[in-house]
Amino acid sequence: TALKPKTQPLKGRHVLITAGPTFEPLDPVRGITNRSSGKQGYAIAAAAAQAGAQVTLVSGPVSLTTPDGVTRIDVETAQQMFEAVHAHLPADVFIGVAAVGDWRAKTIARDKQKKGEGDELSVTLVKNPDILASVGKHETLRPRLVIGFAAETRNVEVYGQTKLRTKGADAIMANDVSKDVFDADTTNMILIDASGPTSGRHMTKTEAAADLIHYIAAKLT
Ligand code: CTP
Ligand code: CA
Repeated sequence: TALKPKTQPLKGRHVLITAGPTFEPLDPVRGITNRSSGKQGYAIAAAAAQAGAQVTLVSGPVSLTTPDGVTRIDVETAQQMFEAVHAHLPADVFIGVAAVGDWRAKTIARDKQKKGEGDELSVTLVKNPDILASVGKHETLRPRLVIGFAAETRNVEVYGQTKLRTKGADAIMANDVSKDVFDADTTNMILIDASGPTSGRHMTKTEAAADLIHYIAAKLT
């Protein structure tokens, strides 16, 4: 039986999502990564697919199963994530949930580095491209809705507002990660857009995903 249109508010829309951490290698056996289980991004991908969207999920290394109806592209580094995102534009909606590594090693050692004699090691890091900003400020293929996340341990609203502006996003889901968020099934989220912040609450990542899909569906009509 055909689903009522109301249950498929994102039917015909392409939703492009990043999720999980990135992994930036230092040598063949080591690297730098971020804390992210991928649960929030995967919950949003699942909710978008359930809402009828065509979903492309560009995922860093996580141990989660791909939600039904979602096309998953696996990547490791921020640069690979950047390439994969741009290769999958155009989209109606971009949601940057990934905890993208801000830095990568300037040079990746070809062989495993031995620890040697000294007690200190310095590594030169260079900045990675900002994927969200590159989509939010895209001159020709900017999606109608560009949504970012911000994980903060303090000044959640102020930093969220700043990221909204600097990244060319329509909304930022600002997350207080000062307690109990990583690996957890719950989150503390406030949505900040041009009309200001909505009051946050403690909710499950599934509930946060459903709320965000409602917000997106309303914005696209
Ligand atoms: N982001 C991105 N590419 C990067 C860094 C961040 O796409 N190289 C995205 C994240 O996916 C998230 C948003 O930008 O949607 C905010 O990430 P966050 O780390 O909070 O912001 P930064 O701009 O990196 O600032 P900082 O880490 O200094 O707070
Ligand atoms: Ca960052």
